[in-house]
Amino acid sequence: MLWVLLAAAEPQGSTIFRVRSSRHERRNAVVSVYIAAVLLLILVGRKFAATIYDVVITRLTVRWYAVVLESFDDGSKILDVGVGTLSALAPHASMIANKRLTIAGVDYESAYVKAAQLRIDRDPTLKARVVVRCASVYDTQTLEELRAAHGPFDGAYFSGSLTLMPDPVAALRAAAAVVRPGGTIHCTQTYQRRTPPLLATIKPLLKYATTIDFGQLTTERRARSIFRESGFEIKQHKVIADSVDTPFQAAYHTILLVPS
Ligand SMILES: C[S@@+](CC[C@H](N)C(=O)[O-])C[C@H]1O[C@@H](n2cnc3c(N)ncnc32)[C@H](O)[C@@H]1O
Repeated sequence: MLWVLLAAAEPQGSTIFRVRSSRHERRNAVVSVYIAAVLLLILVGRKFAATIYDVVITRLTVRWYAVVLESFDDGSKILDVGVGTLSALAPHASMIANKRLTIAGVDYESAYVKAAQLRIDRDPTLKARVVVRCASVYDTQTLEELRAAHGPFDGAYFSGSLTLMPDPVAALRAAAAVVRPGGTIHCTQTYQRRTPPLLATIKPLLKYATTIDFGQLTTERRARSIFRESGFEIKQHKVIADSVDTPFQAAYHTILLVPS
């Protein structure tokens, strides 16, 4: 990069050549600065993955957890799929205690699970009611172990995680397999109404700069087809009050029924 900047400052040959080559070199310098900035972001991002995640994601999902946890009956046992760092769940510790909820969370990102475990260790209320494991939703053996130890679950919850998964329909079925007959699967997520140009390409690439996997852009129509393909009855699919609801995207709370 230094070489490009020095070369851009150095006079060479004819005026036309100088103009063309300096334009070319300036462009190279800009590209180099851009690449250096992206590399720096990646390095910083890897080190502070859990913190970046808390700032970017939690702002939205604390509200979603409030809506979903409130909707469960007292004493319910819940599997949280893609629990993350627990930053969205932890602010609801007193509701979890008052409603006597039991929550088992899984997430396949070990940095997030470590951060979640630290939160649990610091808070006696969470410690009594929440466990986390580092595992993928497709790891059926771990889900079975959690069901045996903390279930059977009355419900499973995907907060902002379903469309990150390579096969969302299989993920819904894997979670349903450890939910009791007649239980529920809750999904909260934003879906696109309109897609600004290039966003569909940029969104999956954001994880390299931020360490956060934002998944594929999912339209409202695609979301409905995922839920239909799962084969479960759709009890509710509605926009969450006081969350995202713009001409471009909306946050939905969907409830599926596990057959009795
Ligand atoms: C957007 S974050 C949401 C975290 C948290 N539920 C919340 O709402 O704040 C999505 C989470 O899903 C997790 N995730 C993605 N794919 C997964 C998979 N196959 N199995 C388990 N967790 C997964 C990610 O690691 C991430 O922590």
